[in-house]
Amino acid sequence: MHEDVERILFNEEQILAGIDRVAEEVTRTYRGRDFTVVSVLKGSCVFASDLIRRIPIPLELAFVSASSYGAGTESGDLALNFFPAESEISGRNLLLVDDILDTGRTLARLVDELRRRGAAEVRTCVFLDKPARRAVDFRADFRVFEVADLFVVGYGLDFAGRYRNLPFVGALKKECYERSASTAR
Ligand code: XMP
Repeated sequence: MHEDVERILFNEEQILAGIDRVAEEVTRTYRGRDFTVVSVLKGSCVFASDLIRRIPIPLELAFVSASSYGAGTESGDLALNFFPAESEISGRNLLLVDDILDTGRTLARLVDELRRRGAAEVRTCVFLDKPARRAVDFRADFRVFEVADLFVVGYGLDFAGRYRNLPFVGALKKECYERSASTAR
């Protein structure tokens, strides 16, 4: 285990079993229909790459990158750094994939934006769900695990850009995020 990690919440075996379960649900939902997995960068890249390899039906892959500005405020404003081309959105069935659903602002805003740009359907799939932190009314269509209100890292999730490469999900030691003023989002 990494020295900055307090404890492991989900190990590699549990993660892969959880992804198998959700991949089956996704496969049932989209069998016989065209769809595109839209991975929210950077955090969901590890999850999305494992998830798509457990889905045995045709799919396309696209990426979106958004970052919140005024972090810690109630504004929920998002800067859209990178968005799929119109041809990848318009008239398409999209499955938006993110690492963690926290306040819900990021996904709520991205779903609105994709619909505004002409998506036929937008569903969401999250690796982790922290319902205790929800600030807007938002539920993911698919989720792998629910987590308590802890700061978690690993398996794509970072703090100040680090820990994404840990193969498990762990709770970060309090002193690690208290000693740093920078934000991980
Ligand atoms: P909202 O609040 O809009 O934010 O649902 C989702 C984004 O916030 C980040 N986030 C975390 N990142 N450990 C992380 O590494 C956490 O515990 C955590 N909680 C929220 C993440 O970037 C996510 O996409």
